[in-house]
Amino acid sequence: AAAVTHEAERAAVSQGLVESNHAGYTGTGFVNYNNITGSYVEWTVDAAQAGSASLTLRYANGTTANRAMDITVNGTVAAAKRAFPGTGAWTTWTTTTLTADLKAGANTIRATATTANGGPNVDHLAIDAGGPPPGGTT
Ligand code: GCU
Repeated sequence: AAAVTHEAERAAVSQGLVESNHAGYTGTGFVNYNNITGSYVEWTVDAAQAGSASLTLRYANGTTANRAMDITVNGTVAAAKRAFPGTGAWTTWTTTTLTADLKAGANTIRATATTANGGPNVDHLAIDAGGPPPGGTT
């Protein structure tokens, strides 16, 4: 099934900044976690039915240090200290995918920086719930 893309710059952002100074992002920009532990991006996404979904985060990390983040779904940790290693440049974007259970209806998916470096720059979250997408791309 097709994945639905949810842009970071349209999500709820805590202690981060929406920026667009490094090319290659989708949408209109990305979120810079501003080198703060606990800064996060939180998406609210609809799922047509309960079940397992693939969550793909697109990011760039122009440093050589891992910018680990906790990924929570509806407040429960789905991936603790998920690795976001260096990508070689802030303009080099890559993806990492995890699997998590979604419930039917609205779900909150949060990616929270766990180190004082903050998270990587986050472009978007793409969700493939296996079935037909619930709506257009946003
Ligand atoms: C640089 C880069 C930012 C990035 C930041 C960081 O300032 O230009 O886009 O967010 O480093 O260390 O996270």
